[in-house]
Amino acid sequence: MSKRFISIEGIARRFDVGGRASTVFENLWLSIAKGEFVCIIGHSGCGKTTVLNILAGLDTPSEGVVVVDNQAIVGPSLDRAVIFQSHALLPWRTVMGNVAYAVTSRWRKWGRVEVKAQAQKFIDLVGLAGAESKRPAELSGGMKQRVGIARALSIEPKIMLMDEPFSALDALTRGTLQDEVRRICLSTGQTVFMITHDVDEAIYLADRIVLMTNGPDAKIAEIVVNPLPKDRRRDDVHKHPLFYAVRNYLIDFLVTRSRTFSDEIRGGRAYDPKKPLEVHPGTLEPTLVSSLRAAPSYEITEKRLGRVQ
Ligand SMILES: Nc1ncnc2c1ncn2[C@@H]1O[C@H](COP(=O)(O)OP(=O)(O)OP(=O)(O)O)[C@@H](O)[C@H]1O
Ligand SMILES: [Mg+2]
Repeated sequence: MSKRFISIEGIARRFDVGGRASTVFENLWLSIAKGEFVCIIGHSGCGKTTVLNILAGLDTPSEGVVVVDNQAIVGPSLDRAVIFQSHALLPWRTVMGNVAYAVTSRWRKWGRVEVKAQAQKFIDLVGLAGAESKRPAELSGGMKQRVGIARALSIEPKIMLMDEPFSALDALTRGTLQDEVRRICLSTGQTVFMITHDVDEAIYLADRIVLMTNGPDAKIAEIVVNPLPKDRRRDDVHKHPLFYAVRNYLIDFLVTRSRTFSDEIRGGRAYDPKKPLEVHPGTLEPTLVSSLRAAPSYEITEKRLGRVQ
């Protein structure tokens, strides 16, 4: 599978703060394959939303370019749907009206029946059948977020960009919506770039998890390749033998390495911003395994990884 459906190529974003240029990040590179679900995690202020806004075409990089499906991004496009933390619905329109409005802006020549059928399909998909005529004020937070998801999906975008879409929801609703987004994205082969602060959410949803260091001058430190099977389920994901290896790796990054990564580079760690290292927590390279097997620390490593008792 080509990793170049979305190609972030050496982007930088600088802001003028009190007459001085402040660099949020620079020389940022990342490729995402078609149909891939990528989450990005990192501390507040490191530049996650800035990257997402550039992908959405709502912000322009100070340097570099982003290419989606072989076309450089020059502004917003209905090929790229954005789901924000806040629902951003039109308050005077019903559920059907909000989704139909998006459908109409995508297919301007469609008649009422066609528009309604397309909107209904996605309202049904997110479990809002029966609530079509309600206005946003009559909906719970979770229902509003479902409308946002239905609206984003109804325009059949090439990519979905999600900025902490579930963070304002209670745990139960968040879990249900994660399940639904996962089900829909798997069945439609949707390409997703999602920001989250929740490591469990990232492990449940993502194929790869991008680790961003603290700003200013934030970097993509590494990319964690999720070893859990595609058909994972919420209720047993934590029982997978590699779940805690991945979880601990992500938490260790957020707690310590997001701060100290630059020291790792200064200390001689190889780092190429064009090709951030892809890591597989809990699994070892076959050649490394055979050389480690000879070493006394092998058993200890295996015990630490929970693979032997
Ligand atoms: N218009 C602006 N002018 C100056 N600085 C800005 C502007 N927009 C964003 N920034 C700065 O860019 C940095 C990155 O902001 P961004 O919103 O991308 O962070 P984030 O990683 O999404 O954080 P959070 O997790 O809190 O949402 C922050 O330090 C922020 O203050
Ligand atoms: Mg943000």
